[in-house]
This record gives sequence, C-alpha cells and structure tokens, in this order.
Amino acid sequence: MRPKIICGDITTFRGDAIVNAANRSLLGGGGVDGAIHRAAGPELLAECRTLGGCETGEAKITKGYRLPARYVIHTVGPIWHGGNHGEKALLESCYTSSMNLAREHGLRTVAFPLISAGAYGYPVKEAIKVALTALSEYADAESEPYLVIYDEDTYKLSLSVYDEL
Ligand code: AR6
Repeated sequence: MRPKIICGDITTFRGDAIVNAANRSLLGGGGVDGAIHRAAGPELLAECRTLGGCETGEAKITKGYRLPARYVIHTVGPIWHGGNHGEKALLESCYTSSMNLAREHGLRTVAFPLISAGAYGYPVKEAIKVALTALSEYADAESEPYLVIYDEDTYKLSLSVYDEL
C-alpha cells in the first residue's frame, strides 16, 4: 500500500501522532518545529527537556498536549551537505525510526512533514522520494502513514513523484 498525501498544516492533524522535524536539542526551533510547539503549548517543551536530546536519524515520543494529535514523535533529520555524507540513509532512518516507535506504542495514524526539506536544505524532490519510499513499507493493515505537505506547489510535486515511483 501507499502512504496518503495531504496538503495542509500538520498541527491540525487529528490522529494518533504527528512527527516533528526537530533538531538534536529537542528544545524547539523554527519551521514545523516552532509551529508544533506553539500549538501544543508549553507542556510540550517541559517534557522535551526531560528527554536529553536526540541523535540524527533517531526518534523520541512525547504526548501531544493541546494538539488534536495524541502524541508527537520527534525526529532529527540530516542537514544537507551535498549528498555524500550519509544524508539519504539518515533521512530514511527518520521515517523508519518514527514508524517503529509508533508501532511500539500501538499508534496507527501517523502524519509526517517533509523532514529536512526546509531549514536543513535537503533537495525537495529527493526528500519526497525518500519519504514516500520509506513510508510505503509501513502502509499496511497495522499502520496508516500520511505525508503532510505545507505548500501547494510542493504538494503538486509530491503527487507527480508519487505517480513516478
Ligand atoms: N505543517 C506541515 N509542514 C510544515 C509546517 C506545518 N505547519 N511548517 C513548515 N512545514 P523545517 P527541517 C514544512 O525547516 O528542514 C527547525 O528550526 C516546510 O515547508 O521545519 O527538518 C528545527 O528546530 C518544509 O517542507 O524542518 C531544526 O533546527 C518541512 O516542513 C530545523 O528547523 C520541513 O522544514 C529542521 O529543519
């Protein structure tokens, strides 16, 4: 099966979990990270302070607090350094680590932003390919992964990438 693609703001996703494109401190930032912390409220940052950060390609889970989603899975994407520094494997690992954590917690509907494709500079089309390929492995009877794309142009691009895969 295939992951579903949605255009919109991930903070409004009503499901079991949303994934945050965080940094290694897990203490907040800009982009989708900032939006998730603003929508979840200060309790999210308080719980994140107890986690001791997160390595690139790995994932940690917190509650969702004021978000409609029950949980937030925080993952840290790779910073793009030209593509010869293990970026692709690390980005794949963000998706698989997050889905494995979701399954360990019995979470079925999980929404992802396009990890690393903003401030971290991963080429957008390549980031979409990695996301859709990795999440396809998890779209089955147990899990329902979603890719939530923020802007209309990237959403259209993701639909064409989806058809090419
Ligand atoms: N809903 C869905 N997608 C969004 C939203 C939203 N509300 N807001 C932005 N995006 P980025 P990164 C998209 O920069 O590249 C932070 O400061 C955005 O259009 O949020 O992994 C962290 O603290 C882009 O396609 O994450 C880290 O320091 C995608 O989310 C750093 O940025 C990811 O863009 C992580 O950089």
